[in-house]
Amino acid sequence: MVKICCIGAGYVGGPTMAMIALKCPDIEVVVVDISKPRIAAWNSDDLPIYEPGLDEVVKQCRDKNLFFSTEVEKHVAEADIVFVSVNTPTKTRGLGAGKAADLTYWESAARMIADVSKSDKIVVEKSTVPVKTAEAIEKILTHNKKGINFQILSNPEFLAEGTAMEDLDKPDRVLIGGRETPGGQKAVAALKAVYAHWVPEDRIITTNLWSAELSKLAANAFLAQRISSINAMSALCESTGADVNEVAYAIGKDSRIGPKFLNASVGFGGSCFQKDILNLVYICECNGLLEVAHYWKQVVSINDYQKTRFVKRVVSSMFNTVSGKKIAVLGFAFKKDTGDTRETPAIDVCHGLLGDKALLSIYDPQVTEEQIKRDLAMNKFDWDHPQHLQPQSPTAFKQVSVVWDVYEACKDAHGICVITEWDEFKKLDYQKIYDNMQKPAFLFDGRNVLNVEEMRKIGFVVYSIGKPLDPWIKDLQVSI
Ligand code: UDX
Ligand code: UDX
Ligand code: ADP
Repeated sequence: MVKICCIGAGYVGGPTMAMIALKCPDIEVVVVDISKPRIAAWNSDDLPIYEPGLDEVVKQCRDKNLFFSTEVEKHVAEADIVFVSVNTPTKTRGLGAGKAADLTYWESAARMIADVSKSDKIVVEKSTVPVKTAEAIEKILTHNKKGINFQILSNPEFLAEGTAMEDLDKPDRVLIGGRETPGGQKAVAALKAVYAHWVPEDRIITTNLWSAELSKLAANAFLAQRISSINAMSALCESTGADVNEVAYAIGKDSRIGPKFLNASVGFGGSCFQKDILNLVYICECNGLLEVAHYWKQVVSINDYQKTRFVKRVVSSMFNTVSGKKIAVLGFAFKKDTGDTRETPAIDVCHGLLGDKALLSIYDPQVTEEQIKRDLAMNKFDWDHPQHLQPQSPTAFKQVSVVWDVYEACKDAHGICVITEWDEFKKLDYQKIYDNMQKPAFLFDGRNVLNVEEMRKIGFVVYSIGKPLDPWIKDLQVSI
């Protein structure tokens, strides 16, 4: 029986290994993590991450050929294939702060693998890492252990949160990069055989190591660029009277452009896009490619602009001040169908509104009060001026309440901001919400999920990203 061990039981490692266990009954899969509470949660009925379809798969395979354990060294030592899926945050201090990937967790995992291994192993990079990380890892492994053959593969994961199980079940492609030596190619074939249990062969792409590593950064950069492009258009739509949904539909019909990933929004979030682009920017700078670095950085700049623009719309529409006004924030996760809040635009929008002394009432069906407060307490890293960080004022917390009922969040509010596109927000009783709000009642749709005409009929003053402006807002003539 082939034994797989995955280091890191997070958003990537957990679902990916669950799918491998489901599709490969002849393989034993052990997911290990240094975090005891995380492993305990994976072994309980209350999994540490919310992902549609994940519970069923874990229940079906757990304790049969899928195991979760904190005995990291034991399981790594026993495995034939070791996936490394630890976190790689952006460095916050030192060389490359704000841009470079922090490989501390990766390096310690690699050193541990070298220490405990007694047999040959295939080590698979699963988390997104800078190009040429495999080379560094290879050096750590081969310099620390004589006589053991380590083969390094890059097998980046392309799943998106909220649709992870679908993406894993029917991936557009699986990408495996390896050394072009006979040993490297043998390792590629071994990993390919795992995926071939359920992925058609023509969807399994094999490349050299560096192409695989760079493809992951490039894919995320291109995806984020589409969102920044449509968001940039949304600003122009508001100025000209065009409707961004109509523009997106029209351009998406061009088969060279395609219809997906063209939803204008308050801004993209998530643990990958910003981090990977900044990492790409850093790699370009290190290689002296300053124009290329500048080009990609603009994708992040437009995203920051979009979030700021949204806050300015809210404040300016509400008579230029939200001080002391209750504002309901609907949704805090970075997208629907996940409880993940990493880099969610909600953090920046809330900070902006708190800065203008608003009183926030936040509702999200999957994010806990504890998580929201922790996120709002954290300082946003200022990429360009890391030395200018200001501690978050403790008084800000008096301005925030987190509630589990959406109608309570909106009661007596002056305005509502929709930040996450949860399906349930489309089906709320907006007449009831309107009746219980202060007047004029403002509705700011940061996800274009609501029917603007219907909302206006109820009586709301509505702002929806990239849509023709409400006369009320248009007449304010503010510069955004
Ligand atoms: C992304 C990539 O899609 C995935 O392939 C990669 O493996 C990890 O990063 P994820 O961050 O989980 O996945 O979610 P994604 O669906 O890509 O959304 C990212 C952000 O973009 C979200 O905040 C989402 O709301 C936003 N978005 C997405 C838009 O604003 N408009 C769109 O049209 C699509
Ligand atoms: C373009 C648009 O495609 C068309 O829809 C619009 O109506 C007019 O502008 P055109 O300029 O005739 O059409 O040719 P196109 O095939 O788009 O190529 C434009 C340039 O981009 C060419 O120099 C082409 O060589 C270059 N190109 C195109 C690339 O360098 N790489 C590509 O992948 C595609
Ligand atoms: P991702 O979204 O990439 O999956 P997460 O932060 O959700 O990232 O998960 C990464 C996991 O890796 C965390 O649960 C963390 O505890 C774990 N981890 C980090 N370093 C190590 C290590 N050296 N050994 C075992 N687990 C580790």
